Amino acid sequence: MDRIRIGLVGCGGMGTRHLYGMRELRRTGLANADIVAVCDPRRENAELAASEAEKLFDRRPEAFASVEEMAERCRGLDAVDVVTEPHLHHALACAALERGLHVMVEKPMGLTVKACRVMIEAAARHGRKLSVNENYRRDPVNRLIRQVIDKGLIGRPYQMVHHSVGGGDRIVITPWRHLKARGGITLDVGVHFADIILYYLGDAASVFGSAEVVREVRHRPATPNRPYELHRRRLAEMEETVRPTAEDVSVATIRMAGGAAVDWRLDMAAKRLGYFRRAVYGTQGAIDCPGERNGHPATLHLEDREKPLTGREILEVLPDFELDPVTSALFGRRAMDYPFPPDEADIKLLGLEYHEFAEAILNDRPPEVDGVAGLKAVALVYAILESSVAGTSLRLEDVESGKVDAYQREIDEAIGL
Ligand SMILES: NC(=O)c1ccc[n+]([C@@H]2O[C@H](COP(=O)([O-])OP(=O)(O)OC[C@H]3O[C@@H](n4cnc5c(N)ncnc54)[C@H](O)[C@@H]3O)[C@@H](O)[C@H]2O)c1
Repeated sequence: MDRIRIGLVGCGGMGTRHLYGMRELRRTGLANADIVAVCDPRRENAELAASEAEKLFDRRPEAFASVEEMAERCRGLDAVDVVTEPHLHHALACAALERGLHVMVEKPMGLTVKACRVMIEAAARHGRKLSVNENYRRDPVNRLIRQVIDKGLIGRPYQMVHHSVGGGDRIVITPWRHLKARGGITLDVGVHFADIILYYLGDAASVFGSAEVVREVRHRPATPNRPYELHRRRLAEMEETVRPTAEDVSVATIRMAGGAAVDWRLDMAAKRLGYFRRAVYGTQGAIDCPGERNGHPATLHLEDREKPLTGREILEVLPDFELDPVTSALFGRRAMDYPFPPDEADIKLLGLEYHEFAEAILNDRPPEVDGVAGLKAVALVYAILESSVAGTSLRLEDVESGKVDAYQREIDEAIGL
């Protein structure tokens, strides 16, 4: 077998973009997977995705109403790609794993830590791969920053700042992102940042956090967030307002196992003075990351150099740095800044995810972001929310093990766990 056959589970906004991710991978000539089927209980979404795929791949994937039907009727299926609302991830992933299929799942891996654990256990029981789509870390800028830190160029990292402020009172993409039992914006956005923090600095040890719902009503956005037909339809049928049950503002101090302190601020409610800042400070320098999917270069400040190094200049002090061949094929060799707009960069990262998942299956090796890594990112966000409820600092190991779950208990009950 030199290519794997994947079925897409969930043909909403992100499911549509995954098709384009596969198209990006095919354009490199390095594709090792095909999307051969799609499923969605909303028949019109499944058919729209099948038509979109037909335009992109000159071959129409079969459309099904459920993952069970797809697994039963689609011949030679090897794996599924779960891209539904997060409260369904664990049940759909387990249904696929039980039928002998490998699973790639969008972030957040599961809606709660318990949901993630159920998925890890099912993958182990059935001997199948479980890979979590954490796309941000795959951006060339984050590959570079991780190397800068690992090679000790900034000395011992003692502090990281992770602030993302802005969001106002609009519904962020979909109403479910404001409902605790279905998603929750602190988890949905925060898990990206949690994964980056863990990717840069290793495991977290403890968290002291606080969170609240600031916007009690959110309003329908004026325009779709992406240029696809599915996104237009999704907005057209969206309710005018939603009453959030999920926190939209969180602040925290995270103490990493390696000693660094991380200052976390995720404010999805601010209408004014929005900003983004991600920086790591070490005993010999500091590095500033402008975020991902925007092609903006990182800036490295070294104490023994007068001027900071930006983008490709950083390669002067990291001469051996190379991106893997697929990232190079998508973004350009040693691409430290790139000219693609965010939408294009985003689908290239999705192409990378497909490639790495297929390689893990074809070569029987662990995926980069396996179930444990996916769980740790989810647990880091919940540690903030659990700490807010407990009013005290919490150890990550207690959140990861499920010993502390007061915040998540009602969500687990709602999703049948
Ligand atoms: N990595 C990223 O940058 C990124 C960006 C956006 C979304 N996401 C993630 O992608 C996932 C989906 O988000 P979205 O914005 O596409 O949501 P969405 O609401 O637009 O789409 C969800 C789709 O799943 C379908 N669905 C519901 N139940 C199903 C079932 N039982 N089987 C199959 N399909 C089912 C729905 O009908 C819908 O078409 C979420 O986990 C989200 O966090 C990730």
